[in-house]
Amino acid sequence: MSRDAVPPPVRLGDYRPPDWLVDTVHLDVQLHPTAARIRARLALRPNPEGREGSPIVLDGDELSLKSLTLDGVPLAGTAYVVTATALTLLAPPQRALTLEIETVVNPSANTKLMGLYRSSGTYCTQCEAEGFRRITYFPDRPDVLAVYTTRIEAEREEAPILLGNGNPVESGPVEGTSRHYAVWHDPWPKPCYLFALVGGRLDRIADDFVTATGKKVELGIYVEPGKTERAGYAMDALKRSMRWDEEVFGCEYDLDVFNIVAVADFNMGAMENKGLNIFNDKYVLASPQTATDADYANIETIIAHEYFHNWTGNRITCRDWFQLCLKEGLTVFRDQEFSADARSRPVKRISDVRLLKSHQFPEDAGPLAHPVRPSTYREINNFYTATVYEKGAEVVRMLKTLLGEEGFRAGMDLYLDRHDGDAATVEEFLACFADANGVDLTQFALWYAQSGTPQLAVSGTWDAATHRYRLDVAQSLPATPGQDQKQPMVIPLAIGLVGPDGRDLPLTLDDGSNAERGVLRITEPRQSFVFRDIAERPVPSLNRGFSAPVKLSSDLSTADLLFLARHDSDPFNRFDAAQTIALGHLVAASAAARAGSDVPVPDALVEALGATLADGALDPAFVAQALSIPSEADVAREIGVDVDPDAIHLARTRLRRAVSAALAPQLAATYDRHAPAGTYSPDAASAGRRALRNSCLDLLAAGGTPDALARAQVHFDTADNMTDRFFALAVLAHAAPQAREPALAAFHERFRDDPLVVDKWLALQAQIAEPEALERVRGLTRHPAFAWTNPNRVRALIGSFAGLNPTQFHRADGAGHALLADAVIDIDGRNPQLAARLLAAFKSWRSLEPGRRASAEAALRRVAAKPGLSPDASDIVGRSLE
Ligand code: ARG
Ligand code: ZN
Repeated sequence: MSRDAVPPPVRLGDYRPPDWLVDTVHLDVQLHPTAARIRARLALRPNPEGREGSPIVLDGDELSLKSLTLDGVPLAGTAYVVTATALTLLAPPQRALTLEIETVVNPSANTKLMGLYRSSGTYCTQCEAEGFRRITYFPDRPDVLAVYTTRIEAEREEAPILLGNGNPVESGPVEGTSRHYAVWHDPWPKPCYLFALVGGRLDRIADDFVTATGKKVELGIYVEPGKTERAGYAMDALKRSMRWDEEVFGCEYDLDVFNIVAVADFNMGAMENKGLNIFNDKYVLASPQTATDADYANIETIIAHEYFHNWTGNRITCRDWFQLCLKEGLTVFRDQEFSADARSRPVKRISDVRLLKSHQFPEDAGPLAHPVRPSTYREINNFYTATVYEKGAEVVRMLKTLLGEEGFRAGMDLYLDRHDGDAATVEEFLACFADANGVDLTQFALWYAQSGTPQLAVSGTWDAATHRYRLDVAQSLPATPGQDQKQPMVIPLAIGLVGPDGRDLPLTLDDGSNAERGVLRITEPRQSFVFRDIAERPVPSLNRGFSAPVKLSSDLSTADLLFLARHDSDPFNRFDAAQTIALGHLVAASAAARAGSDVPVPDALVEALGATLADGALDPAFVAQALSIPSEADVAREIGVDVDPDAIHLARTRLRRAVSAALAPQLAATYDRHAPAGTYSPDAASAGRRALRNSCLDLLAAGGTPDALARAQVHFDTADNMTDRFFALAVLAHAAPQAREPALAAFHERFRDDPLVVDKWLALQAQIAEPEALERVRGLTRHPAFAWTNPNRVRALIGSFAGLNPTQFHRADGAGHALLADAVIDIDGRNPQLAARLLAAFKSWRSLEPGRRASAEAALRRVAAKPGLSPDASDIVGRSLE
C-alpha cells in the first residue's frame, strides 16, 4: 500500500539520464467503476546515454499487476521483482524489446485524485507530477518521451464520451456488448505526466479555430450535463489565447482537435495534458448569475495558461522536476502578458504584484523558502508553489526588462526552435537568451538558485550646485533554509526622476550615457549612480512597474510619497506610493494598538486617496485598487516578528473607519456615478466600474453608519449579477451584524444547488473576524453542502479560515490552529496533497508573538506525530519545524 519508510530526498545533483527509453506506448483501458483494467504495450530500448546492462525499473503505486510478457512471452516469476513502488526486470536482454503489462486499479477508491479516478461519476486522470505510475508501471519521469496510442472502452450508458490525447482515430460499438470504444493517437512524443483520458456523460460546446497557416482545429469544452451555457466565456478565452500565442510568440497549435474537460473534484487549478486539458470546473464555468468579475478574470488567465503550455511545457518539457519553473514560471509570465493585453496592463500588474507579495513573499521569508529551482525535494507535489510559479514568472519578466522587447523575443524564438521536442533545463533556457543577445547571464542565473527576497536600500542626494543627483543603492539577501551565504544578484531597477512639475527628467548618467529604458543594473552589494543636468530636486520613482521582486526601502518622506501618489507617470508606483504611506501608518498603529493607544491617521494618506478618487482621468479599475487598504497579512509581513494579529486588526479597522469618515461624501458620489448601465458584461471596463463602485461601498460601510449599511442592503437586494450580489453580501457579513444572517440565508437559499456558489458562501463565513467564526466553521463542516472529499469545498471553508482570517485562525487560545491540525490529520488519510496544501497555512508561524507561536508549534507537532502521516504532509511539517 503506501510507502512506510521515509524515502531519501531527491537531489538535482544526482540526475542521471534514464537507462531505458520508451519509443511508443499502446494503452488499452477498460473503464470500470472499481476495477479498471489497463493493458500497456511499451516499446523499450536501452538508452545509449544510460548505464549499460541496466535492469528495467518501472515506477508503480497502488497497482495490482495481472500479467507481464516480454516480446509476447510470459515472464517467469524469477525474472522480475514487484514492490510497493516499482516493477523491476532484473536482467532484461539489452536490445529493443516489447513489454506488455496488465494492471487493475480502482477509480472509485482513488481519493488522492492522482492517476485514474472518478469525479461525480466521470472517469478522469491527473498524472502530473507522478500519477501515471498509478495507472500502469512506467518510467515515470519527464525525460522519457514516447508516442501514445490509447484505446478506451466503457459501458456506453455510463460513459458515452471517451476522450484521449492527440487526434481521434476511430470509435464504435464493441459488437455483441453494451460497451463502446474510442482510439486516440498523439503524434507528439510526450512524457507520461501529460497523458490523460476522460470517460463520462458530458455535454459539449463546440467551436473551431483556424490557425495562422490555415489549419482548422476543432475545439470542444465538456461540462456536466446542463451546464453548457456556462462554458461560453472559457471558449472565448481559448480562442483569444490561440490567436495571441501566434501573434506574440509565433506559437501555432499542432493537432486537429483541442478539448477541455471540467471536473468537480480536482486537486489543483487545471492541467495541460496534450490536446486534452482537464480543469477544476471553477476555472471553466461562469455565468453572470454565478460568477464574479474575479472569476471571469481567473478563467481567462487559466484557460490561457494551460493552452500556452502546449509550447512551453509540452513541445518543450522539463528534463526533471527540479526544472518545474522552466514551464511554470515561463507560462505564468505568458498568461500574465496575455491578460495584460486583454485588459488594463497597469491594473493587471498591480494585481499580479499583490498576489506575489501576499503569497510568495511570506513563503520566501519562512521555513518553506526554496529557490525558484529547488535543488532537493522529498515530495515534488509540494513544490507547485508561489515561488516556482509567481517568482518564476518575475524572473522571466526581469529577463525581458534586461534584454528589452526584441532581445527577449529573439531569445524566446531561439528557445522554441532549438529545444522543440526536448526535455530541457533552466541552463539551456538561459543559454538561448545569452546566445541570441551576446550577453553573459551567469549572475542572472542566481535568481533560480538563491532563495529569499532581496532587499534594496536606496537613498538619493541632490546637489544644487552641480545639478547632479546621486542614487546610492545597497542590496542584501537574508539567509534562508539551507543557504547561509548569498551572492549579490543582478537586479533590474527601473526608475524615474520626477521633477516638481510631475514630469520625468531625462536620465543622463554622469558619463553621458543613458540609463537604458530607464533601467539601472544593480550587480554589486553597493552601487552609486550619478545623473547630471538635474536642475531641481527630483523625487525618485523606484522599481517602476515592480521591475524586480525585491523589498525596497528608501529615504522618501511622506511628502515625497504623496507627491508620487499624485503625479508619478508610472501607474504601479502611483498605486504603491499610497500603499507605502498606509503600510507605514499601520505598522505604527499596530504597535500603538497593542500598547493600548492610538496614532492619528496621516493627512497625506487621506489626501492621496481623495486625490485619486477625484481624478476623473484615471481608469476606475485602477482607482479601485488604489483605494484598497493594505491587508492584515500585508501588515503582519511588514512587521515581521512578534506579530499580534488582533492589534493589526484593530489598527486596520480604525484606519478604514477614519478614511471612511473623511471621504464619505466623495465615496458616496463616486458610488452613485458608477451605477450600472445596461445588462451585465464581464469585460474589463465594465468590471472596473463595478470594482470601483464596490470599493466605495466597502469603505463607506467600514464607517458603520446606518446610512452606509442601508446602502449595502439595497446593493444586495437589487444586484442583478454575482459580482455585486456577493460583494454586498460580504460587506453585510463583515460590517452589519444585524443584516448578516438574513442575507446569508437568502443567498444560500437562492444558490443551494450550485456548489461553486456555495463555496463562496462557505469562504465568506470562514473569514468573519469574530470569535464565533470558529464555531461557525465547525458547524459548516456538518452542513449538507459541505464534503470533506471535495477539494473545492475544503479549500473554501478550511483554506479560507486558515489563510484569510488571521485573527481567528491565530486565536490566542490556539483553537484555530487546533482546528486546522484536526482537519489536516483527517484529510491526510484520503488526500495527502490537499492536506499538505492546507498545512502550508502555517508557513509564517515563527513570526507570531510567543503565545501564538507556541500553539502553532503544538499543532504542527501534533500533525507530525500522527501515525502513517503521508510523505506530502510530513515533508511540510518537517520543514516547518526545522
Ligand atoms: N501543470 C499544472 C499547471 O500549472 C499543475 C498541475 C499540478 N498538479 C499536481 N498534482 N501537482 O497548470
Ligand atoms: Zn502550469
